[in-house]
Amino acid sequence: MASEIKKIGVLTSGGDSPGMNAAIRSVVRTCAYMKVDCVGIYRGYQGMIEGDFKPMDARSVNNIINKGGTILKSARCDGFRTPEGRKRAYEQLRAEGIDAFVVIGGDGSFTGAMVFNQEYHFPIIGIPGTIDNDIFGTSNTVGFDTAMNTVVEVIDKIRDTASSHNRLFFVEVMGRDVGHIALNTGVGAGAEEILIPEANRGLERLLESLKRSKKSGKSSSIVVVAEGDKIGKSVFELKEYVEEHLPIYDVRVSVLGHMQRGGAPSCYDRVLASRMGVKAVESLLEGQTNFMVGVQNNKIILTPISKAIKGHTKIDKELIRVSEIMTT
Ligand code: F6P
Repeated sequence: MASEIKKIGVLTSGGDSPGMNAAIRSVVRTCAYMKVDCVGIYRGYQGMIEGDFKPMDARSVNNIINKGGTILKSARCDGFRTPEGRKRAYEQLRAEGIDAFVVIGGDGSFTGAMVFNQEYHFPIIGIPGTIDNDIFGTSNTVGFDTAMNTVVEVIDKIRDTASSHNRLFFVEVMGRDVGHIALNTGVGAGAEEILIPEANRGLERLLESLKRSKKSGKSSSIVVVAEGDKIGKSVFELKEYVEEHLPIYDVRVSVLGHMQRGGAPSCYDRVLASRMGVKAVESLLEGQTNFMVGVQNNKIILTPISKAIKGHTKIDKELIRVSEIMTT
């Protein structure tokens, strides 16, 4: 055990995701179990700079495992991008007696933590909390499973009205610049087409596919579009393009937006977050730093944070093939 670590901070940073509270709960309870103190850092790095801290014990995290969002709040923080901001944060952490911290967030949050560690040799461990699932070194980020379930449920509802009116719906989902949410939910919800940035197959092919759908007697169509898709048109421009080239379709658009970020976390995300929180605290107490906790083949592993922030989880080509076959 790294005996010099007596007090561990925990914060959430960047876009929130369902399961972040389960991860906070696990970090706090593992600290209590290991008999080290734990301090909640509110509002991400902004709160760190301002010294917005609150001691947390095992009871501080009662009844939050099933809650979306993050009780520690989150924020995007420009100040932490500056040496002055990081210096102020370091002074605040030292004044509070915090010896290390766990940051729950995405690649941007990990980049900040890595720079901070380089400047102050301050022990840090990352837990991947984002719905995008866009971080190298883990098959699942905390929140991805819940977001997918939310999207599939909503697309099922959209399909009800699409079928009633024989309509084509373009449904835009989140994911920043990757297509994991779109691809998985498109297959899960039986979409006729899925548009993702990793596989731009062009507008002509889209029109051909929609024509075939119509000819095959499908009364409604759903096209799931990743927000980062590169087909060259927004979902609203796609609507106009299809209306112009395929007047047989009555077209509508649904942009799902931030509902994908909320909701009670799925059991999978609660368990994943709980496992990751334990690993994060144990790793710090073993003297590890600059790692991100991840899951691969259902095993909890550590990936150097320098690697985690450089790459994305590759799109599943086998799932792309499944999606193509399913549109038969
Ligand atoms: O990274 C999570 C995410 O929800 C992305 O999928 C989305 O593009 C972005 O955050 C939205 O950012 P904001 O919440 O700042 O509008």
